[in-house]
Amino acid sequence: MHQKLMTEAIKARNLAYAPYSGFRVGAALLGGDKIYTGSNIENISFGATCCAERVAIFKAVSEGIRDLKAIAVVSDSKNSTFPCGICLQVMAEFSIQKIIVSDGRGGYREYTLDQLLPCVFDDINRS
Ligand code: THU
Repeated sequence: MHQKLMTEAIKARNLAYAPYSGFRVGAALLGGDKIYTGSNIENISFGATCCAERVAIFKAVSEGIRDLKAIAVVSDSKNSTFPCGICLQVMAEFSIQKIIVSDGRGGYREYTLDQLLPCVFDDINRS
């Protein structure tokens, strides 16, 4: 399944809308028994840009799928591209435990959410 997710992420990368950075990212998420893909979607107002990972996650969640198991990420870099902090926080919200990161050379490595976001924000109790 990891290789399948990576293959789908590579396909999704082709659909990136990245005219400002030129940096294409693709993601593929296993949610329930389906794969949801995403690519980064940039905006001339840079803060309105959405990362590939969040596009994939929001597609699944907006279709009622919250059982999110693993997400693969690939970019144009020859190095690993790790999910940004905002995307990691969104992954934490839906307990995505496995993050498969391309090494930029045809391979990949699997990380846990705890490895990439060890001090998650998860408590808004005021007492
Ligand atoms: N980007 C992603 O889509 N995912 C990441 O994990 C890192 C960054 C996008 C956002 C922006 O379109 C471009 O990469 C450069 O930051």
